[in-house]
Amino acid sequence: MEIYPGTIHLNSYLTLDEQVALVRRCNSIGSGPAGFYTPAVRGGAYMRIQMVCLGRHWNAKTYKYEATRSDYDGLPVQELPADLKDLARRVAAEAGMNIEPDICLLNCYPEAGRLGLHQDKDERPETIEAGIPVVSISLGDSAKFLIGGTRRKDPVKTIVLESGDGIVMGGPSRLRYHGVSGILSDTAPRELNIQGRFNLNFRQY
Ligand code: SIN
Ligand code: MN
Repeated sequence: MEIYPGTIHLNSYLTLDEQVALVRRCNSIGSGPAGFYTPAVRGGAYMRIQMVCLGRHWNAKTYKYEATRSDYDGLPVQELPADLKDLARRVAAEAGMNIEPDICLLNCYPEAGRLGLHQDKDERPETIEAGIPVVSISLGDSAKFLIGGTRRKDPVKTIVLESGDGIVMGGPSRLRYHGVSGILSDTAPRELNIQGRFNLNFRQY
């Protein structure tokens, strides 16, 4: 479903089996070396989510990508596995767009997790200008996802992102403000055995 030109919501994109496999994957990525941590932003406040970056590390203090987690423990960032790249390419193609993903931010939301309105604009200017999309996949509990315009004060629409959904924001939607205002507890499919939510957020640097 097209939410705005360039914002495509793919409801129930993943099968339940695919979701189960991906949740396992997220758990193992997050519990390994250079796994989940709680980023602290510039003023020192902690984000309300845990994160692991694959491919390139997003530094929450400088808003820049880097090879090591210099704002946290200095460990080298984990690689972005080929099958996850393929998944992001497939989701983008389903929305009629193309991406050559080299970054994935894996976000983990506890039941009280949220993420303030922001733009994704730390990738190369060429990538952003070309409208190459950000590709997002949701797993676990549903989230209230807000998406507005290119100014923070623009009106926002609220979409519920359910487990297995994809959302692609590219072309004229590449710089829309978006965020997560809340998690709907106990809405994850029981088979996933998860409390809270994972979001796989793919980008091309
Ligand atoms: C993000 O914008 O980085 C994450 C969005 C989401 O969790 O759905
Ligand atoms: Mn974002």
